[in-house]
Amino acid sequence: MRSHDEGGVPKESFGLLKEELRKQIPRIGLLILVAVLGTGVGLIQPLLFKSLIDTAIPDSDLGLIGLLLVGMVIVPVLGAGLNSVNHYLRAFVGEAVAQRLRRELFNHLLSVRLAELEKFRTGELINRLTRSCGMIGEVYVADHLLPVLLNTILLVGTLTAMIALSWRLALLALLAFPFSFLLTRKTRGHAESLYDEFSTTLEAGRSYLHEVWPGLRTVRAFNAEGHERKRWQSWIERHWHIKARVTTFHELIRTLLPEFINYAAAGLAFGYGAFEIIQGRLTVGSLVAFVAYLPRSYAVLQALLGTQVNLQEARVNAKRVDALLGLERIPSGHKNLSAPSSKGAALAFQNVSFDYGRGDFGVQELTFCVEPGEFIAVVGPSGGGKSTIIDLIMGFYAPRSGTITFDGIDQRNLSLASLRSQIGFVPQDTFLWNDTVSANILYPGRSDDGGRIRQAAGAAQIDEFILGLPDGYETLVGERGMTLSGGERQRFAIARALLRQPRLLLLDEATAALDALTEQKVRAAIDVARQGRTAIVVAHRLVTILQADRILVIDEGRLVEMGTRQSLLASRGLFFDLYQAQSFDLP
Ligand SMILES: Nc1ncnc2c1ncn2[C@@H]1O[C@H](COP(=O)(O)OP(=O)(O)O)[C@@H](O)[C@H]1O
Ligand SMILES: [Mg+2]
Repeated sequence: MRSHDEGGVPKESFGLLKEELRKQIPRIGLLILVAVLGTGVGLIQPLLFKSLIDTAIPDSDLGLIGLLLVGMVIVPVLGAGLNSVNHYLRAFVGEAVAQRLRRELFNHLLSVRLAELEKFRTGELINRLTRSCGMIGEVYVADHLLPVLLNTILLVGTLTAMIALSWRLALLALLAFPFSFLLTRKTRGHAESLYDEFSTTLEAGRSYLHEVWPGLRTVRAFNAEGHERKRWQSWIERHWHIKARVTTFHELIRTLLPEFINYAAAGLAFGYGAFEIIQGRLTVGSLVAFVAYLPRSYAVLQALLGTQVNLQEARVNAKRVDALLGLERIPSGHKNLSAPSSKGAALAFQNVSFDYGRGDFGVQELTFCVEPGEFIAVVGPSGGGKSTIIDLIMGFYAPRSGTITFDGIDQRNLSLASLRSQIGFVPQDTFLWNDTVSANILYPGRSDDGGRIRQAAGAAQIDEFILGLPDGYETLVGERGMTLSGGERQRFAIARALLRQPRLLLLDEATAALDALTEQKVRAAIDVARQGRTAIVVAHRLVTILQADRILVIDEGRLVEMGTRQSLLASRGLFFDLYQAQSFDLP
């Protein structure tokens, strides 16, 4: 379970696979037992034929014939039963591996550095969590890796029986083996690049689909249906093309050519067998039994060689999963923030710099303190770095240099969970689940002990609105809260933040997209919400923050002004300009 440690380096997917297989040893043992029994039963059938032809028929032994016929019915049924158990156990173990990978990968992604995760498209993440993990567990382990073990048992059994019947014939039949082996080796590199391209294509398709549906309004508004149809069509063609190549490869290199090799060798063995019978060195029954074993040994051989190629396919998928498992996590400290005794949290930035690594400025050399219970406003031109400050406080990103402290404790030493449990965060874009109003406000909890939800909704000025909904607090809000307006979503987010009674309230542009009347409601919500706690409010509309104790003015990632409204207006700097520009809004 080392991979669950916060900040620890997770195992690679093949490491996890081995670990899970070790856990499944009892089941794998049972599987081997079933396979051995199945092999034994499978070997009996051709011998029954041999007895029938070589002994029972020439001797006209009706009793033996009857017995053999009973055997011919029971043995295959028994074989089929064992085969089913075999399949079930294999599927179980394969699924266990796939689920293990899915669980670990999901856990890891939940705590990976956002800056790293943002390099991947949602479709890629979805594809790797579903298909790639499935290809490793369900396909590779269940259909190839475990069968190698079982096929080896089967091959040894079948070859022993064949050699016992006639070693000369067996030697001829074995001629096919080296040819098939060479064929597989030669095509390995090709197989890998094919599978890689196939996976890339699938991920591209998922990523596209993931974008197009949420963007449907824009698509329609710009009459872009034709454009999108073409994009989808071009993906279909790309997929068709690569799928055709994969299928051709499978049919030709993995099926047809090997079969040709096998049957050429079988023909040789058969012809030579006839010669042996004429020479009196072999019975007809033995040849019949031998010929019955032959396709089995080839099938097993094919499966064994196929495993080589399937290992390539599993590797291609493992590489994709490992690219995600290798993403760095934000290291979380272990100190907890103390119980809320004061009226709010203290916060300080000291020479904090951060950038997104795109030649942007992010934030630079920020230094400021926030006293407990203070109401701080952060204003400035769009793109100046205001949201970045909020994200740094939340610990979504780690500063490149400088320190952020909470109640005097360095953020790096704090447990992120403890830190976040004391922050009420209202992001710039409210995220709502496709669930009920109450589930969204209580998130991630479910139970509302003591009517906290009504209290929080009341403070967020949204209680009345919710009661007016068809099912009140049990109304479904639709995917991402599509059935609500921007202002309603904002107030839901405020209620959600207040429910945890945070010591520090962070609001990022909670009123930017709202009309004046709705803005007033949200402002009233903020005024109630910030009572008794520290509040940092990023605001585009200055009217939202007129009550602030202090205002930070951020431009191009720098703190350019800081002070009360009066002092900032008096100094006639950037704040004065912003204020002038919005003066029609202000009292
Ligand atoms: N996830 C991100 N990846 C790369 N650059 C980003 C990201 N988020 C913001 N930026 C860039 O960082 C700068 C500051 O952005 P932001 O903090 O969102 O500004 P504000 O909230 O003041 O409008 C901008 O230049 C923006 O393009
Ligand atoms: Mg912003």
